Amino acid sequence: MTLSQEALQARLNRQFKYFDAVDSTNDIAKTWLLQGAPSGSAVIADEQLKGRGRKDRTWHTPAGVALAVSVILRISESHLNRVSLLGALAVYDLAVHVGCEQVGIKWPNDVQVNGKKVSGILPEAVWDGNKLIGVVLGMGVNVRFDFADTELEETAISLETVIRQALDRTLLLDFLLKRIDDWSLNLTSDKLFSTWKSRLNTLNQHVTVDTISGLAVNVDADGALLIQTDDGKIERVLAGDVLIVDRQREE
Ligand code: BTN
Repeated sequence: MTLSQEALQARLNRQFKYFDAVDSTNDIAKTWLLQGAPSGSAVIADEQLKGRGRKDRTWHTPAGVALAVSVILRISESHLNRVSLLGALAVYDLAVHVGCEQVGIKWPNDVQVNGKKVSGILPEAVWDGNKLIGVVLGMGVNVRFDFADTELEETAISLETVIRQALDRTLLLDFLLKRIDDWSLNLTSDKLFSTWKSRLNTLNQHVTVDTISGLAVNVDADGALLIQTDDGKIERVLAGDVLIVDRQREE
């Protein structure tokens, strides 16, 4: 079940660019956005040679084992902070669709299955001065990579490892992109926000984000995480990597 231009063409009902190998689908999508690609267009690759993750990290996408896709979204600036939520919701839907059960969103947008990361999301806005041109929503989903005996074994997982069944990546992409379309229609709605919040597995956990530690008590309307520190203060965190603290082990 390899990815190919022909298979995707037969399935996807949208403008897309497919590459067997590319540095980063986000970079291609940004260029295409500036050239006028319509909202909903997608850049898809089988392999990424310089895939990018959050905080300038590298995101590995070897050939044949994952989804690497960037969707172009033309939205208004006031909805920018919803894009990351939208990506997480669509990937969550995909994981449930293929039969995963223990699915959750680790704040802000890491979809986890059985407590391990199954996808990463990298939204990048493209500006002309201070005018927003659009957003590229990059999504990487682990489909077939076997993390056993790798340094990521404890923290990452693939869909096929969970469901013990082979998956067709063309069908997965079709489903994922349709979920992006559907959630995009609800970008401003309470439903998008409340569903994202209800799927978070970070709330009511003791967490550390950068230098802030405490109880993750809530998220605000911008999607920021509210952490109550030991002295009772509420700290607001807009972005960062959450470390769940096992209090029992700490004491
Ligand atoms: C993360 O660090 O969790 C985000 C990873 C995002 C990876 C995806 S794969 C498709 C798109 N192209 C990239 O270079 N990165 C994103």
